[in-house]
Amino acid sequence: MATAAGAADPNYPTRSIALVVPFAAGGPTDVVARIVGDHMSRTLGQQFVVENIGGAGGTTGMARVAAAEPDGYTLGVGNMGTQSAAPALYPNLKYDPATSFAQVGIANFTPQAIVSKRATRPRTSKEFIAYLKANQDKLSYGHAGVGSISHVSGTLFNSQFALKPALVAYRGTAPALNDLVGGQIDYMVDQSLNVIPQIKAGTIKVYAIAAARRLASLPDVPTSEEAGVDFIFSAWNAMVAPKGTPKDVIARLSDALNKALDDPATVKRYVELGSTAPEAADRGPEGLQKLVESEMARISPVLKEAAAK
Ligand code: MLT
Repeated sequence: MATAAGAADPNYPTRSIALVVPFAAGGPTDVVARIVGDHMSRTLGQQFVVENIGGAGGTTGMARVAAAEPDGYTLGVGNMGTQSAAPALYPNLKYDPATSFAQVGIANFTPQAIVSKRATRPRTSKEFIAYLKANQDKLSYGHAGVGSISHVSGTLFNSQFALKPALVAYRGTAPALNDLVGGQIDYMVDQSLNVIPQIKAGTIKVYAIAAARRLASLPDVPTSEEAGVDFIFSAWNAMVAPKGTPKDVIARLSDALNKALDDPATVKRYVELGSTAPEAADRGPEGLQKLVESEMARISPVLKEAAAK
């Protein structure tokens, strides 16, 4: 609890910490939040209790974090959607990603994978895009709500290839992936972290990794460039606290996050999931603040242009 004049309680944390995940349980943001949150709870000696608060592309949950008591006992894990794209898509957004939070740090970077339901016939990415174009009035694209990573990556992908599928919104890409496995929707551009287990299980089809390099965990899957598809898209998840959270509390949280990222178990798990941790220079509150500001500036005009097409 913050003492007078906003100084942190030297014994912080003295009780469990709520960790808001603004998407459905089991999705990529939830998985990353639990990986780092579980480790941080061991470092800090108090439980991190995940609360999945979905809706509105994750902005409902992040607005809850922005409005919470800045005492270090309510944190959130947002992502490139909620913390950078949302202002361009929600005119009445209840928070500003650059000023409504005390940034804790980046949790992971994750490339996107271009995936479809297993029954889709095309073998190569080029054939897949031709198939999407020829059948777009009969096909559907699943995402986690306007402004989510999967919505932004889908908007750019569909705009670049002049595709207009039906867009199906979910409270996260975990339920969207369930429907892709079940064949209820046709394709997604989603965080590799989310789709790798289903790709390995053979329950969905992967065409390419929208990144410059292949993933060690999917060595046979081509990059989009190798597949002749000029589409690169990387995303990230990050931990924040409400603005006004005492600096000593943020320092303790950020230090615990770094310890989680450097733990060999985390490093191994990230490789399995196609994620990378931020470099030392990009860590901490400053690294995340810089990323949020640069991504907000980068994404808004791109989204506006895609929407205008
Ligand atoms: C999730 O955890 O469901 C995703 O991060 C949602 C998204 O941003 O696509």
